[in-house]
Amino acid sequence: MGLKLKSPIIVGASSLTADLATIENIEKAGAGAIVTKSLFEEQIQLERYQDELEREKTNEKHAEMITVFPDIGHAGPKEHLYWLKRTLETVKIPVIGSLNAVNRETWLDYAQQMADTGISGLELNFYSTPNDFSKTGSSIEDEQINLLKEITEKINIPVAVKLSSFYTNPLRVVKQMSETGIAGVVLFNRFFQPDIDIEKLENIFPINLSNPLDNRLTLRYTALLSKQIKTEICSSGGIFDAADVIKMILAGASSVQIVSALYKNDIEHIKTILDGIETWMSKKGFNSLADFQGKMNKLNSDDPWAYSRAQYVKLLMKPKLLRKDKTEF
Ligand SMILES: Cc1cc2nc3c(=O)[nH]c(=O)nc-3n(C[C@H](O)[C@H](O)[C@H](O)COP(=O)(O)O)c2cc1C
Repeated sequence: MGLKLKSPIIVGASSLTADLATIENIEKAGAGAIVTKSLFEEQIQLERYQDELEREKTNEKHAEMITVFPDIGHAGPKEHLYWLKRTLETVKIPVIGSLNAVNRETWLDYAQQMADTGISGLELNFYSTPNDFSKTGSSIEDEQINLLKEITEKINIPVAVKLSSFYTNPLRVVKQMSETGIAGVVLFNRFFQPDIDIEKLENIFPINLSNPLDNRLTLRYTALLSKQIKTEICSSGGIFDAADVIKMILAGASSVQIVSALYKNDIEHIKTILDGIETWMSKKGFNSLADFQGKMNKLNSDDPWAYSRAQYVKLLMKPKLLRKDKTEF
């Protein structure tokens, strides 16, 4: 996003960055920046509904909204903006706000209000799941691209977009987005998927933390997009240790975001990762991240087929697939 960070590790939007004491520890452990927990459309709407509810007490839609989101009653947008300012007073590292809206007006209005708090940048969290059978992929992409143009024209702090990987051709979409005036892309967001309790026959909504192998998709797209789009890439999703960060930087990322790694370990884990990166760099003779950033992206890769279909076919054409008894292919 054009921000100078003291380390490439950014702690991503989560409950970790919603707590001032934890944020202080995150800074002490060596993080380069934090992305605060998102302000969600539902919080904004709930506050509006609650104001209206005071006036017309019997409205059913209001009642449903409050039942579905009981916990955010005291976490409206005003509190969020106030709390962003408290965060800025608490740490010196860049604080990046995060917004997840639905309606165009909300995006534009709150992007501005959040920028006015003095945050260093704003991450737009394009988290939405398809629920309309008639909407085409291209119409959704166009809406998102137009929105990015409008927001970047309106606010004067750097804007990044955190994307899902679920586009038919992520390369085209990310490239087009990178030309709207945004300063960074975060690849990728993680969707929470509902589950089913087969005893109670109920839907359940567990918080699924990432697993280490989840970062392969991010690694692929970081390498494919590196130096081929107009913005910096922040890689995210299943990054757990120093080796994972190094791989992302080799693939072309300029920074990474981590969340699950800190839930599964502790905040001090940031320091362990940074120490691991330094050890590896001195072993390899690299003095700065720039010495190896993008060294193994698609453009620089020694193996032109590394990110292609050919590797997939080659793998599946092996005579024997990996067996339970650990015999080789
Ligand atoms: C408990 C929890 C809360 C999260 N809250 C947010 C949020 O408010 N906004 C957002 O954009 N992402 C949120 N995320 C997603 C993370 O920022 C991140 O994109 C995702 O967890 C993938 O990174 P990881 O593999 O390092 O966990 C949350 C994740 C977790 C686990």
